[in-house]
Amino acid sequence: MAQPALIPTCWDSSDSDICADHRQPRAEASSGHCSQPGAELVAGLSAREAYISPKYFYDALGSKLFEAICDLPEYYPTRTEAAIYASHQDAMAAAVGTGCTLIDLGAGNCAKAASLFGALQPRQYVPVDISTDFLHQSVQGLQRRFPDIPMQPLAMDFSSTLTLPPEVNAQQRLFFYPGSSLGNFDPQQALAFLRRVRSALPSEEGGILIGLDLVKDTHVLEAAYDDALGVTAAFNLNVLKHVNELIGADFNARDWRHVAFYNARFQRIEMHLEARRDLIVRWPGARRTFRQGERIHTEYSHKFSEQDILGLLEQAGFGGCRMWFDARRWFAVCYAQAR
Ligand SMILES: C[S@@+](CC[C@H](N)C(=O)[O-])C[C@H]1O[C@@H](n2cnc3c(N)ncnc32)[C@H](O)[C@@H]1O
Repeated sequence: MAQPALIPTCWDSSDSDICADHRQPRAEASSGHCSQPGAELVAGLSAREAYISPKYFYDALGSKLFEAICDLPEYYPTRTEAAIYASHQDAMAAAVGTGCTLIDLGAGNCAKAASLFGALQPRQYVPVDISTDFLHQSVQGLQRRFPDIPMQPLAMDFSSTLTLPPEVNAQQRLFFYPGSSLGNFDPQQALAFLRRVRSALPSEEGGILIGLDLVKDTHVLEAAYDDALGVTAAFNLNVLKHVNELIGADFNARDWRHVAFYNARFQRIEMHLEARRDLIVRWPGARRTFRQGERIHTEYSHKFSEQDILGLLEQAGFGGCRMWFDARRWFAVCYAQAR
C-alpha cells in the first residue's frame, strides 16, 4: 500500500501546541500499579488540571466492567474489530505467516488473540497486561482450551518501557495491539510507543498487527462512551476506588459524575470525572480542594484516519502496511512489517 506524502496535523509528530497534551506526563518515569504507582498518581492529582492515567481503570473490577462495556449495544469497537478478524483471518495469516511469537499488548480477556490462533498457529503466546489477577485468570482458561500453545503471561506496565524477558521467543515476533488502545496516548506518546515496539523486534523479521478506531459521526462516538445503562460511567468512577486502594486517598465516587464528549479539534473522545459539589480529597501527606464542576481527566481515546495510521507506522519504522476494514469503515486493522 502506498505511503502517504503528508501526515494530518493532529498526528504529526512535530512539536505542535495543537497536539500537545500538557496534562499527560511525558516523562519516562511512570511505573504502573504492577510496581509503584504512588508518585505518578500524586503528580496527576496535584497538577493544575488534575488527571489520572487510564491505565488505572484496570483493577480486577475495572477489567470486568470493560468486558461488560464490550457487550453494550452502543460500544461498537469490540464487535466491529472482532468481525474484521473473523472475515479476514486467512488474509492476515497470509501476510503474517504462521508460527509467530504472538505478543498481545493489553491482552485483557485474550479473546481477540484467541480468535486468531487457528489461522496464525503461534509458536508462543505472550499476553501482557497491567491487570495482574485478571490476566492470570484469563490465561488459565485459555491454556485449558489451547493446551498445545506455550503461554507466557507478563504482568507489566508497558507505557514507559517494553523490555521483554528472555523467556519471550525472539524469533518472528508479532506484536498484537487491538482495541484501539494506541488512541489512549497523545500523538507524540503514540509514536514513541510504536518506536519502542519496533525496537523490541530484534530483526527486520516481525511486525505489528494493530486495531484502530476510525473517525466517524460524533453521535456514534459519544454514545459509545456514555451508554444508557451507565456501565461506562461505572468504569470511569471505579478508577477512584482503585486510586483509594493504591495511595490511600479518600475519594467518594458519589461526589463525582462521568463526563464524555468528542473533541473534534483533537480527533478524540475525552473522559473526565466532574465534582458534583465543592469538596476536599485527602491522601497521605496532602489534600486537594475541588470546586463544583472541576474535572479530573481520565482518558483520551483518539480516533484515526487511514492516513494517520500509515503515517504513524511509517515514522515508527514499519512498512509494507496491509489494512482491513469492516463494511462501514468504522474500524481498521493494520499489519505492518519491521523495516
Ligand atoms: C481497552 S482494554 C483492551 C482489551 C483487549 N485487548 C481488547 O481489545 O478487547 C485495554 C487493556 O490494556 C491493559 N492496559 C492498559 N494500560 C496498560 C499498560 N500501561 N500496561 C499494560 N497493560 C495495560 C488493560 O488492563 C486492559 O486489559
